[in-house]
Amino acid sequence: MTRVAVVTGGTRGIGAAICRMLHAQGRTVVANYAGNEEKARAFSEDTGIACYRWDVGDYDATIENCARITEEVGPIDIVVNNAGITRDGVLHRMSFDDWNEVMRINLGGCFNMAKATFPGMRERNWGRIVNIGSINGQAGQYGQVNYAAAKSGIHGFTKALAQEGAKFGVTVNAIAPGYIDTDMVAAVPPPVLEKIVAKIPVGRLGQAEEIARGVAFLTAEDGGFVTGSTMSINGGQHMY
Ligand code: CAA
Repeated sequence: MTRVAVVTGGTRGIGAAICRMLHAQGRTVVANYAGNEEKARAFSEDTGIACYRWDVGDYDATIENCARITEEVGPIDIVVNNAGITRDGVLHRMSFDDWNEVMRINLGGCFNMAKATFPGMRERNWGRIVNIGSINGQAGQYGQVNYAAAKSGIHGFTKALAQEGAKFGVTVNAIAPGYIDTDMVAAVPPPVLEKIVAKIPVGRLGQAEEIARGVAFLTAEDGGFVTGSTMSINGGQHMY
C-alpha cells in the first residue's frame, strides 16, 4: 500500500528535499505551495510530484484543499508541516503584521493541517505528523521574537497532539533544524550569518537532505513508538 504524504511548503528548500526523500521511499507525495508558481511547475515536471496551491495559514483553504487531495489522490496518512516564513527584526521595529503573519502561517498552519487530517488518521488508526520547528524555537534568536515564538509553539503543539494521537496509532514529532543552506538562511545578512556559522561545531550549514532523513525516520512504518519527540539536527549548535 502506498501512503499519501502531504508536505507543506514542499516545492522549495527543506520541503522539496523531504518530498524527494518520501517519493524515493515509495510514498505518494503531494507538495503544497503558497505562491511561487514557476518553482512549483519546475519541481512537478522534474519529480512527477503533484503540487497544490493554497495558503496553509488560511483555515478554510486548508480544509478545502485537504478534502480535494483526499478525493483526487487518497486519504492523507502522513503530514509534514514544513511551510514557514521569516519576518526578522528587533522587537522595537517589528510591526504587528510581521508578528501576526509569522504566527498565522508557521504555527497556525500546523493547527489547520491537523484539523484537516488528524480526524481521518485517528479513524484509520494510523498516522504520522512531523512538524518542522527550529533551533531558534528552542534557544531563541536576536531579531526573531515572532519566529522563535511560533517555532517554540510548534514544539508545544507537537507534545500535546502526540498525547492525543498515541492510542490511535498516530505519532506526532518535531524536527528542530539548525541553519540549513536554503533561500531563508541566504536572506540573513552575510556578516551576521558568518558569525552564526562560526558557532556551529561541524563548521558548516546543514543540507536540506539532512533534515529529510529525519523525516524519513519519523514517518517510517515501524516508527510507532517514537512520538512526542523533538529531533535536533543542527550540527551541534545547540545541544538540547
Ligand atoms: N546578539 C546581540 N546583539 C546582536 C545580535 C545578537 N545575536 N545580532 C545583532 N546584534 C546587535 C548588533 O551588534 C547591533 O548592535 P550595535 O547597533 O550596537 O552595533 C544591533 O544589534 C543591530 O544589528 P543590525 O545592524 O544587524 O540591525 P538591523 O536592524 O539591521 O538587523 C536583524 C537586525 C534583522 C535582527 C539582523 O541582525 C538579522 O537578520 N539577524 C539574523 C537573525 C537570524 O538569525 N534569522 C534566522 C533566519 S533563518 C531561520 O530562521 C531558519 C531557522 O529556523 C534557523
